[in-house]
Amino acid sequence: MEALSPAPGKIFADCTLGLGGHAEAMLERIIPGGKLIGIDRDNEALDIARERLRRFGETNVLFAQGNFDDLKAIFERLNIGKADGLLLDLGVSSMQLDKAQRGFSFRYDAPLDMRMDKGAGLTAEELVNRAPEAELSRLIYEYGEERFSRRIARAIIEERKRGRIDTTAKLVDIIMRAVPYKGKHGRVHPATRTFQALRIAVNDELKALEKALDDAIGLLNPSGVICVISYHSLEDRIVKNKFKEAKSKGILDVLYKKPLTPDEGEIEDNPRSRSAKLRAARMVRE
Ligand SMILES: C[S@@+](CC[C@H](N)C(=O)[O-])C[C@H]1O[C@@H](n2cnc3c(N)ncnc32)[C@H](O)[C@@H]1O
Repeated sequence: MEALSPAPGKIFADCTLGLGGHAEAMLERIIPGGKLIGIDRDNEALDIARERLRRFGETNVLFAQGNFDDLKAIFERLNIGKADGLLLDLGVSSMQLDKAQRGFSFRYDAPLDMRMDKGAGLTAEELVNRAPEAELSRLIYEYGEERFSRRIARAIIEERKRGRIDTTAKLVDIIMRAVPYKGKHGRVHPATRTFQALRIAVNDELKALEKALDDAIGLLNPSGVICVISYHSLEDRIVKNKFKEAKSKGILDVLYKKPLTPDEGEIEDNPRSRSAKLRAARMVRE
């Protein structure tokens, strides 16, 4: 909130509405007179946020189901010119992770889905059962930064000959068998990186982020702020580079030299914040 500095009468867009926590904090500060646009790919998230934000009234909050890579069109559709603040809190929500049947978590046995928008695109099951070995290996390496990507891709192909890999538990089992001893005794569960990679691929997350950042610059008022919270280095690198590029063109001022990260107290209260990095930039006044 400090970076975004929401104030009465301002227009803000929460491009990753999720369960509406950030949106609620913004609305408390922009009313009266302000407007919040809440966007999410996930209809289930939108339903929860709608309920949570009901008390702010229908005219102050506009909801849109969609991908933030389509921000420009969403603004046009809602008749919004430019905003004073944009927030992107990337990745999946706690609800998506904790709801077993969404298939995001290796901790529960569920169908391999992983789509944030259940109405669009390939599921993780389709990807895992169709992609050639080289592609699986590349995406597990690139999007998961998994050193055993080749072994895991090989094991997936071998398993496909025996039958369809249609559940998270089957995939976890394949990964556990493919990864050597040293990969099983690290800080994180051996399936973490492969699951991250598949999720990024299924939702085409990095391309959406690049596109949204390019569009965002044209959708901010002078002195408007864009704030991005990312949860892994691939996302953070994209944000850092896009901000740097815009700064060198004299379009944005970068607000913090280093990204803000949670302190120990926050991590204790909210363990899922541990990998969060917040970067913010302000449109240069014309
Ligand atoms: C970390 S959660 C946001 C939590 C939210 N800030 C809150 O306070 O509850 C990320 C949300 O962004 C959504 N999301 C991720 N990528 C998206 C995209 N490309 N377009 C629209 N929504 C996206 C997810 O569906 C998820 O609900």
